[in-house]
Amino acid sequence: MDSMGDAKYGREAAQALLLEWTQGESLRKHGLAVAACTEAYGRLEALRQGLSGDAVDAFAEPYCCAGLLHDMDYERHPSLEEHPFVGVKYLREAGWPEEMLHAILAHADYSGVLPETHLDKALFACDELSGFLTACALVKPSKAIADVEVAGVKKKMKDKAFARAVKREDMTRGAELLGVPLEEHIGICLLAMQGRAEELGL
Ligand SMILES: [Fe+2]
Repeated sequence: MDSMGDAKYGREAAQALLLEWTQGESLRKHGLAVAACTEAYGRLEALRQGLSGDAVDAFAEPYCCAGLLHDMDYERHPSLEEHPFVGVKYLREAGWPEEMLHAILAHADYSGVLPETHLDKALFACDELSGFLTACALVKPSKAIADVEVAGVKKKMKDKAFARAVKREDMTRGAELLGVPLEEHIGICLLAMQGRAEELGL
């Protein structure tokens, strides 16, 4: 992909776009949280493919950017007709890598684009889970993601009244798509978000 590894299409540009398109604090944080998780998967996949050093960073970049930008248009264009299509159209015209755009389309299960690549699957899998992990942190007395544990998350998943809006099937389906046991998936995302706790305000 020509545009990969180009700072014009890197995380700083993606963060700037997220801030430009999204004023709401919680949707901004959602983008950051998903990006922390997708980036972790990008790094793991890079290592699995035998990459090292800068190549790992470059490989993980579109993962991070997909996380940051997947709901970029949601505040302005929340309807099923427009989200994420308006954002993808804008990003395509601006020259962002197609692999990232494919993942953004595939994270919306009504878009007609299915999660096919590892990046697609990672974005799909991290989207609902990161929101659930945020909800798990906010019910802790400390409100700290550092105090959330995998076992507690699994318990909360069974509690239907808790974070009702988060679809449990999407969380389990995401792990299945990635071919990662659910517990491991939760652990990977939890660690990624704990590493960005300050930025996430958790
Ligand atoms: Fe999202």
